[in-house]
Amino acid sequence: MPRILIAGGSGALGREIVAALRPTGHPIRILSRKAAPTTIDQRVEWVQADVATGSGIAQGVRDVDVIVNCVSDPFGKAYQTDVTGTRQFLQAARQAGVQHVLHISIVGIDQIPSTYYQIKREAEQVVCASGIPWTNIRIVQFHTLLDLVMQRMTAHLLPFVPLPLDWKFQLIDTSDVAAYLVPHILGTPAGRLPDLGGPEVLPMRQIARQWLDAKGDHRPLLPFQLLGRLAFKEASAGFVRENNLVPDSHYGRVTWSEYVRQRYAVGRNTASRGGTLLKENR
Ligand SMILES: NC(=O)c1ccc[n+]([C@@H]2O[C@H](COP(=O)([O-])OP(=O)(O)OC[C@H]3O[C@@H](n4cnc5c(N)ncnc54)[C@H](OP(=O)(O)O)[C@@H]3O)[C@@H](O)[C@H]2O)c1
Repeated sequence: MPRILIAGGSGALGREIVAALRPTGHPIRILSRKAAPTTIDQRVEWVQADVATGSGIAQGVRDVDVIVNCVSDPFGKAYQTDVTGTRQFLQAARQAGVQHVLHISIVGIDQIPSTYYQIKREAEQVVCASGIPWTNIRIVQFHTLLDLVMQRMTAHLLPFVPLPLDWKFQLIDTSDVAAYLVPHILGTPAGRLPDLGGPEVLPMRQIARQWLDAKGDHRPLLPFQLLGRLAFKEASAGFVRENNLVPDSHYGRVTWSEYVRQRYAVGRNTASRGGTLLKENR
């Protein structure tokens, strides 16, 4: 039975992949910079390692057959983690005899001009050149990301919420992504998979309004396109062109309104979603 390493298994997608793989009975190991939480399921092994510095990675890849690479550090050391870090991580993995790496990427990275997306492209090239048979999949934005964006864009005292309302998203839930990936993780290396999009395309206005309503925040939205250009200077044109969407892919059962309802519904706590969709530290 293949032994599987979820690199980034502490993150939004990684932890859903861990949850989705657990019933298969495959030995699972998580790689993270953090120490193992005291609450960890004893059937899951945890290795503390940092792909940017190389510390702990030899132990992380030892006796592993398949790596699922969910590691990324967009708001921190992005290049050192996603490009040079991935390179040294996969070198160690090849030497350890890993037979398959499944890498997670983002839809539109070669059409949307952004420093982070350029880094994601380079990371894909590193995976292809690693010498390990690979699978690569580009996925649209996760619910967890827009949740974070809304938290950040509302954390001020202005009487309105300025947002780039001309953008659209085809959000997908990390639990749906994990379910989609399981057969590919357990299958053979497949090269680049078709891009994966979520169940519906929503305008930013609707995404924001549903989130604000669930939080009881009645501030009006301000269609402030300039903010989009300032905050996401390079990427803005790509989002206006809708290069972040996958019109021929509509996968997943959890919609944005369902995600928001589950996450913010009054009187519910995050554990009420079966322990997969929402976790304490999101
Ligand atoms: N978020 C989206 O909307 C979206 C959409 C499409 C594709 N993706 C891609 O999907 C993947 C997962 O995204 P996510 O949203 O789940 O990200 P996330 O929640 O930020 O998780 C990132 C993971 O990377 C780990 N990590 C970061 N730097 C590391 C380092 N130097 N060494 C070891 N581990 C490190 C973090 O672990 P610790 O902090 O515990 O060390 C964490 O588990 C990424 O490749 C991302 O580009 C994301």
